[in-house]
Amino acid sequence: MRLAAIVAAAGRGNRLGAAVPKALVPVAGTPLVVHAVRAMHEAGVHVILVTAPTDYVDEIQALVPEARVMGGGVLRQDSVALALASLPADVEIVLVHDAARGLAPVSVVASVVGAIRAGADAAIPVLPVTDTVKQVDGDGNVVRTLDRTSLRAVQTPQGFKRSVLQRAHDEATGEEVTDDAAMVEALGLVVATVPGASLAMKVTTAADLAVAESLLAGEVHHVG
Ligand code: CTP
Ligand code: MG
Repeated sequence: MRLAAIVAAAGRGNRLGAAVPKALVPVAGTPLVVHAVRAMHEAGVHVILVTAPTDYVDEIQALVPEARVMGGGVLRQDSVALALASLPADVEIVLVHDAARGLAPVSVVASVVGAIRAGADAAIPVLPVTDTVKQVDGDGNVVRTLDRTSLRAVQTPQGFKRSVLQRAHDEATGEEVTDDAAMVEALGLVVATVPGASLAMKVTTAADLAVAESLLAGEVHHVG
């Protein structure tokens, strides 16, 4: 089954506050988007599409010749929809990955793909939640404590049967979502989970960047 990946990299990275879009910010000397595309390539993904800020398409294309780079949309889900619309006809499985999670290891990509190949409509990498999580009301007062054992922190790449992801985007309400799985859940379909990894953390703030650097350094040390 032909496998494609959409790497969402069209955000500005406002919370990180770097001089360039977040996808171009280096970790261990390599831009996040290059890490992300490399992992897809190493995992055997056949077609890799990258969404970039419209004024950075050429610059990012030069960094990832194994991928096709295109301009993104206003919201993340708009960027994903644009890429989805330009996938080759023969693609049957689609991964959606965030450049902001560029250090996600190939083993996680393989687990997600394996779940879809085994028949799941959608599969997402997750980690147990270590913080106690509480729901609050509009005044900031606690409504309830959620049962942590049933909670998971969600990562990317998320994997989908192409037809399922297409339907999820076609039937989306337009309301902002933070991941693609939420749109599949809205269809009433089952989203499976596979084990995620610390390295698949999202770089949002400058502090995250420092954590990513140290995780990767630890990994390199471990392997070498
Ligand atoms: N993204 C995208 N298109 C958008 C917005 C976001 O492709 N219109 C991508 C980002 O490039 C990122 C991923 O979606 O890889 C997750 O989004 P986020 O972490 O919020 O990144 P940014 O939107 O760049 O960061 P910020 O919200 O701090 O500006
Ligand atoms: Mg954002």
